[in-house]
Amino acid sequence: MTDRPIDEQVVKYLTDVHSIEEQALAQMRSAPDLAGDDQLAAAFRAHLTETERHEQLVRDRLEALDASPSRLKDAAGYGSGKAFVLFARSQPDTTGKLTTHALSYEHMEWAAYELLMRIARRAGDEETAAMAERIRDEEAAMAERLEQSFDRAVEASLREQDPDDLGKQLVKYLSDAHAIENQAIGLLSKGPDIAGDPQLAMLFEQHLEETREHQRLVETLLESHGASPNAIKDAAMRLGALNWGGFFGAQPDTPAKLAGFAYAFEHLEVAAYELLARVAERAGDAQTVAVARRIADQERAAAERIAATWDAAVDATLAELTTG
Ligand SMILES: [Fe+2]
Ligand SMILES: [Fe+2]
Ligand SMILES: [Fe+2]
Repeated sequence: MTDRPIDEQVVKYLTDVHSIEEQALAQMRSAPDLAGDDQLAAAFRAHLTETERHEQLVRDRLEALDASPSRLKDAAGYGSGKAFVLFARSQPDTTGKLTTHALSYEHMEWAAYELLMRIARRAGDEETAAMAERIRDEEAAMAERLEQSFDRAVEASLREQDPDDLGKQLVKYLSDAHAIENQAIGLLSKGPDIAGDPQLAMLFEQHLEETREHQRLVETLLESHGASPNAIKDAAMRLGALNWGGFFGAQPDTPAKLAGFAYAFEHLEVAAYELLARVAERAGDAQTVAVARRIADQERAAAERIAATWDAAVDATLAELTTG
């Protein structure tokens, strides 16, 4: 191994994806038993096998690059997949929450491998880049399977709760969306300071405005459904039980990591609105269906805009290295 800072970055990103995979392993081992739907459980089981291979491939790469074994342990501070599992289990709609968080997690992995692939390519490490690309595609395929499972996830979630009281369920999903938008506002307000790249900073600012509008729209729906302020407070507490830093791995301390984190978060929102739209559909509430679908599209568009900045995020991260 040479002493170039970029080689050090490749090892650092490999270490990061390794701990992301370890966290994923913990999740994939519990997810099949938690999923209240056979097809969804089978998808998680199949991805457990893939995740085991990912962990092995990344470990082999780290060994080939002569990274010290302690580097693997250093990453233990990355948090544990257990947080995610315990959170899903504690929720009344376990299957819905499981699907929402799994979709977000797969996108975090997707982003992490995109970034690793780019950094490795710049370092001239084609082998690491090729591995990252292959794994990235499997994360993307798993995310796609989860996207196809929203209907089944909603069916299972409603079975898990009060299937006859759709109005009550709808208010719960609306309150959850409200709480997620609150967290989004928190994340996006801090984003521009650590973005390290003017394009990414501007994007965060724009989406912050959109996010405030989403929250207003959800608030209006909550009011028209006669939701009590307590319903909103309870949802904030339910979500607050999940520590994002712990769930996603680490605090986003570099522009690249921040972009990956934000990309994953947008998909958490996408999933929340996809589920909300389906519950509203079953409750015959066309207005909520329309709002949820419109917001989901805007979250997807925000995620796409973030994904268009991977190269800029890598530039900013590497520039910070040389300027210290
Ligand atoms: Fe993986
Ligand atoms: Fe994965
Ligand atoms: Fe968003």
